Amino acid sequence: MLTTTTDLIGSPVEDLDTPCLVLDLDILDANLNRMASFFAGRECQLRPHFKNHKCTTLALKQLQAGSAVGITCAKLGEAEVLVDAGIDDILIANQVVGRRKIARLIDLALKAKIRVAVDSQQHVELISAAAAEKGASVGLLIEIDIGMGRCGIRDSNQVLELARLIKNQPCTRFDGFQAYEGHTVGIPDRDERRQVATTSMQYALDVASELNRNGVEVAIVSGGSSSTYDATGILPGMKEVQAGTYATMDWSYRRWAAEFEVALTILARVISRPREGVGVVDFGVKGMGDEFGGPQFVGFPDADIPRSLSEEHCTVGNVPQWKVGDAVHAVPSHACTTCNLYRQFYVATDGVVIDVWPIDGAGRLA
Ligand SMILES: Cc1ncc(COP(=O)(O)O)c(C=O)c1O
Repeated sequence: MLTTTTDLIGSPVEDLDTPCLVLDLDILDANLNRMASFFAGRECQLRPHFKNHKCTTLALKQLQAGSAVGITCAKLGEAEVLVDAGIDDILIANQVVGRRKIARLIDLALKAKIRVAVDSQQHVELISAAAAEKGASVGLLIEIDIGMGRCGIRDSNQVLELARLIKNQPCTRFDGFQAYEGHTVGIPDRDERRQVATTSMQYALDVASELNRNGVEVAIVSGGSSSTYDATGILPGMKEVQAGTYATMDWSYRRWAAEFEVALTILARVISRPREGVGVVDFGVKGMGDEFGGPQFVGFPDADIPRSLSEEHCTVGNVPQWKVGDAVHAVPSHACTTCNLYRQFYVATDGVVIDVWPIDGAGRLA
């Protein structure tokens, strides 16, 4: 018989079928409130990044927590899920390319306020032509490469020229800049990180001032992260911070933003004790994004964690206490790629399931 969501409400977390994702609501709320409080009353507001959890229920909570102007996402498919959930102000912080995708982008822009990153004339012309056909208006942010070396342009003359091109198209709005300081997020020393992030973002803000002096208004500069929000989010002219991981956290990100606690764990079960001191749990790379390392097990700091996992197994050493059938909580190394692997969060307080939230953006990669 299929277990329904309502059957699970009130169950101890340890009774859930494993592996599954558990969100501690008290910790989550504390993280959301901490970040919202930081931005209360500031020129710069939050635009939380959906990439972290891909759950529209959680995105709505981030908006309700305050100091937020909308949601950031990485993919058009995520933006569609967000609009379906009633969220009407969305930034797709990447380029949307391809005929069918641009048609979907325009359809979405007819339903909600959509902004998207561009960094070439080609992007602008393709979006503008498709928008004109349907009488839509799409907000464009020019992506500035402030040091990460991913997408984006740097030369201020090139930026000015592209901004003028956008302004001259009938169906695109030039709304400002996308500028993400991703190369600074993991700098271990907080003072050094603050300094490098500030210098990097200041470049985009200086280009914005130059455009303003040339009569091209840059309304928005959007960027930032969970480990640099307190550096770039306080710069004059900065309008939006796209922090993502602060909501759920994971053990690797906590090294850089320890003020946020880990709200997300993978509940796993010990399925075998094949050798002395060794326990095997029931998730592998199909249950945890492991590109930043293996999991950490709550309450077992001395466990020997494998660097790489099997598809469905994680073999852990130095856990003589573990018995077959035990439920254990694993903190993932990378929350964002882990959440993308599951269909729901079991939301718990004090170890009891109180709600189930669909991860409705999972797998929306296109
Ligand atoms: C475009 C963009 N903005 C912001 C972020 C910040 O996210 P986080 O707070 O998880 O570092 C990311 C992270 O990948 C990103 O790609």
